[in-house]
Amino acid sequence: MKVLVVGSGGREHALLWKAAQSPLVDRLYAAPGNAGMAALAELVPWSGDVEALADWALNEGIDLTLVGPEAPLVEGIADAFARRGLLVFGPTQKAAMIEGSKAFAKALMERYGIPTARFRVFQDPLSALEYVEEVGVPIVVKDSGLAAGKGVTVAFDLHTAKQAVSNILSGPEGGEVVIEEYLEGEEATVLALTDGEAILPLLPSQDHKRLLDGDQGPMTGGMGAVAPYPMGPETLRRVEEEILRPLVQGLRAEGVVYRGVVYAGLMLTGEGPKVLEFNARFGDPEAQALLPLLQNDLVELALRVAEGRLGGTELSWREGASACVVLAAPGYPENPRKGIPLHVPEPPEGVLVFHAGTRWEGGRWVSAGGRVLNVVGLGQDLEEALGRAYAYIPQVGFPGAQYRKDIGQKARRRR
Ligand code: AMP
Ligand code: GLY
Repeated sequence: MKVLVVGSGGREHALLWKAAQSPLVDRLYAAPGNAGMAALAELVPWSGDVEALADWALNEGIDLTLVGPEAPLVEGIADAFARRGLLVFGPTQKAAMIEGSKAFAKALMERYGIPTARFRVFQDPLSALEYVEEVGVPIVVKDSGLAAGKGVTVAFDLHTAKQAVSNILSGPEGGEVVIEEYLEGEEATVLALTDGEAILPLLPSQDHKRLLDGDQGPMTGGMGAVAPYPMGPETLRRVEEEILRPLVQGLRAEGVVYRGVVYAGLMLTGEGPKVLEFNARFGDPEAQALLPLLQNDLVELALRVAEGRLGGTELSWREGASACVVLAAPGYPENPRKGIPLHVPEPPEGVLVFHAGTRWEGGRWVSAGGRVLNVVGLGQDLEEALGRAYAYIPQVGFPGAQYRKDIGQKARRRR
């Protein structure tokens, strides 16, 4: 088979790495991919036009396409491929609305009784500001549209809350803001494969969204992830029954068959798991931590999802744990510095390196984005996994690399 992975980050490198192990695969392609993937796949130049990529795939005879990031999904890449009779792992544009519009996702959760923070949606700045005054802090202000994980402000003072509202609603084209109740608890991620009928949760995982240790500093796309996150069977059962099932069945009741992976970003509150957000794709960096633990053939799973044959499938996982530490460029997330030379030695046994914002230039690796490299440690348990990742990092490092030293500490304390 010819298999195409769409995207250019660490998540897509991990997807390619996993797909490359499938006996079903003859050739791998990545669009646009990154230099770190070139050893595994043919890189296909791509500007982001979903119709153009679907035409290329039809021409090239691509048998299966796995879509990594949200932007092409929200633009309808799955629809464009399906119109040409091409198999794709990733939801249609309508289904991807669970991520593309937080207002849509919240309304859907309300319709199907899915536990989530109380909320209101506004387009008018004055009403939104009045509402903030009325409710007070703490309060959470979210850009309804896609914002690469950076459109959320958790405000503990009114000034910050109002500033966030103004930033979102003041653009020339206006905007939409979701203002919601602040939830307390620990965060976790549950991803699940679904073909619109069967739902197969992956191991729970945990991302680290803030830039600095102790969950301080600005929000990022994600600074590291561990798996499995010790969520407990009862909580996981509630996530399946109260969140994943009503989501997939609710969409189907509305004529939308979700095929791909759904991402439930959760707050584990005193009242049980509640949804912070849904995404229409694998998490980044959750995928980098999870995929090395998955024993099933990813390509076969993706085919089952794309063809609506997921029912009866069982997942099997490697014993032990996995930890992904993200190395980000100096200046990330605001203004990442590019062109910094990187040293990426061959990792030892039990360590994997997935490239994100890197380029091969003049015979060496240089930084080319915010999140630059992902170092994944695997071990019998989380301690060993973390130990391996952190032992390798000093050898990789690049000047000014930002990374968290406390990845996995919350999960360790929960054991
Ligand atoms: P989101 O993109 O909606 O998941 O939000 C990004 C991050 O903001 C989450 O990972 C949480 O850390 C935080 N967050 C979002 N919504 C809430 C909420 N209702 N209460 C507390 N923290 C939140
Ligand atoms: N790790 C957070 C996300 O992928 O949205």
